[in-house]
Amino acid sequence: MNYHIVTYGCQMNVHESEKIAGVLREKGYDTQSPLEEADIIVFNTCCIRENAENHAFGNLGALKKLKREKKGLLIAVGGCMVQEAGKAQLLKEKFPFIDILFGTHNLSELSALIDKKRAQKKAVISLKEAREAVEDDIKPFRTGYPGAWVNITYGCNNFCSYCIVPYVRGREVSRRADTIIKEVSSLVQEGFKEITLLGQNVNSYNSDGQGGMSFPELLDACAEIEGKFRLRFMTSHPKDFSKELVRVVKKRDKICNAIHLPAQSGSDRILALMNRKYTRETYLDRVRMLREEIPNCALTTDLIVGFPTETEADFEETLSLVKEAEFASAFTFIYSPRQGTKAEKMAGRVDEATAKDRIMRLIEQVNENTRKCSESFVGKTTEILCEDFDEKKKCYLGRNEAGRMGYFESAKNPIGEFVPLHVTRANGVSLFGTVEEL
Ligand code: SAH
Ligand code: SF4
Ligand code: F3S
Repeated sequence: MNYHIVTYGCQMNVHESEKIAGVLREKGYDTQSPLEEADIIVFNTCCIRENAENHAFGNLGALKKLKREKKGLLIAVGGCMVQEAGKAQLLKEKFPFIDILFGTHNLSELSALIDKKRAQKKAVISLKEAREAVEDDIKPFRTGYPGAWVNITYGCNNFCSYCIVPYVRGREVSRRADTIIKEVSSLVQEGFKEITLLGQNVNSYNSDGQGGMSFPELLDACAEIEGKFRLRFMTSHPKDFSKELVRVVKKRDKICNAIHLPAQSGSDRILALMNRKYTRETYLDRVRMLREEIPNCALTTDLIVGFPTETEADFEETLSLVKEAEFASAFTFIYSPRQGTKAEKMAGRVDEATAKDRIMRLIEQVNENTRKCSESFVGKTTEILCEDFDEKKKCYLGRNEAGRMGYFESAKNPIGEFVPLHVTRANGVSLFGTVEEL
């Protein structure tokens, strides 16, 4: 039997789709197929911004015809959007052909939900307020070779005022360190070359005491595992970003010198309204500490424009932060009001035209940083982990330690191998070069 999964949202969700695929394969859905040929279609949704929801709504609507034409086709919708207050009901009303609605806290239940749906005509809905277990029972069907994701925490305790994640993902829960280390170890043995540890805020790992050690200790233990592989982690909340962590990154070659440290804004007034618990200056202090310890570390960030009451002066502080912190690149977002969050109730919404104008100017500044950073590699050799072949460009591609994408031609297929790329040219976000005959 065939399955098709559509994923929206972050790496956490991409990895959760691998777990959903793992459950489906156990259940006898053994082949991934195009949408039209699937016996079960699963939408794994995201609700971080309004446009993520709109995408899912649009694509769900298009399934109506398929469902009518194909007898026995199951349609299941899971992920963050389903956990949003009232959304499961709304989805059911808008798309009565959905068979199964399942939340983010019970992926291992999906198998039983499928059985239940097969036995009844009515749609099956299963939602849980809180996570009961840490899902160590599911074997994900991994799709990211040579990369693999490993959860270290679920949920979030931070309640940044704009963010819906704590509401749809619940409180932070840590997986046990020994389970994580075992998983990383067996992934390396299976041949995976880049392991990314995932948490909404990895720095608060073990805040519930369930992990058994701190995040720097966990990272250090993972880096001790034998074999040639890279370690990455995301995301680091600046308020908990410590020297101890930076020292571990510095000490261990396997841990990439690349840190994603979302700043969100450069204005103290906006940062306070966002409930981020740091100021521009304390953020920059940590950046200086990082640069002192690891001068060549690539630093990337997330930025939001148009937060309620953001003035031109506030925005300019974000612009100048991009220059001052010398971000290698950044994800930029227009603030999107999310149901149930503190910011949703704040006065002083920024109008759309102003927000659009600000994001354009911000992107321009970020692009300048990105271009400069890419150009710094020209004429040098940088190690690439080859991950794919680009059919359009007719060349192989992969990322270097800093996360820059490099493209090169090769007679032999080097996917999954580390190759030295001699960079001859840079184009914004990408590097182009040659590798010696492999
Ligand atoms: N836990 C991570 C990732 C959160 S989601 C972290 O704290 O960094 C990824 C990014 O989406 C956030 O960093 C933020 O920049 C953006 N984001 C979250 N909620 C948003 C909203 N309501 N509107 C616009 N951007 C948002
Ligand atoms: Fe959202 Fe803040 Fe938690 Fe990140 S740390 S998931 S932005 S509440
Ligand atoms: Fe990720 Fe979106 Fe949920 S960003 S945690 S899938 S709301």
